[in-house]
Amino acid sequence: RHVAIVMDGNGRWAKKRFMPRFFGHKQGVDALVRTVQACADRGIEFLTVFAFSSENWKRPSDEVSGLMGLVLVAVSKYLTKLAKEGVRIRIVGDRSAVSDKVREAWDQAERATEHNRRITLSVAFNYGGRWDVVQATRRALADGVAPEAIDEATLDRYMAMHYAPDPDLFIRTGGEVRISNFLLWQVAYSELYFTD
Ligand code: FPP
Repeated sequence: RHVAIVMDGNGRWAKKRFMPRFFGHKQGVDALVRTVQACADRGIEFLTVFAFSSENWKRPSDEVSGLMGLVLVAVSKYLTKLAKEGVRIRIVGDRSAVSDKVREAWDQAERATEHNRRITLSVAFNYGGRWDVVQATRRALADGVAPEAIDEATLDRYMAMHYAPDPDLFIRTGGEVRISNFLLWQVAYSELYFTD
């Protein structure tokens, strides 16, 4: 029902072709759109991708601003098409640190697709698995949940991906064999698959 992907290796893919890293990220967006279609065609209900980790802020500032700009380009290029194809878009992660423009693009993508149910594409952006556990705990306490009442099911309701079942399959492209702080809580029982 649910596939999660760490979309890694964009930079190296481009470098191998004597192209700038940004070209790899651009191709990555196109690959993502093809993947959404392939998953929808196979009846997969949820696809979740790691687009920008909490650690990605440490990259050179021109790469960070390039990725932010790419979000705007991707939304304007693909939103209508994805919306028509029944894709519901959800953004998971800490939105407080992104610019107003990026936040508005995310809001627009979510609003335009909120009634779609063919497949839910969750884009993890400024996301970290540990951040997720911390924000869930904080929100539960702020809601008045007593510390002794916090159990796995309770915390689950406050996690960013509360609306989806845990991933059945976790894929990482690009050759690294690690989880890198993606859906830590949710991958407890997922099958892990790493490609070169
Ligand atoms: C990993 O490759 C990829 C990223 C850090 C960025 C992925 C993001 C996008 C493709 C755009 C996001 C926008 C939308 C709309 C989803 P890498 O740079 O780590 O490659 P490397 O490991 O070869 O250096």
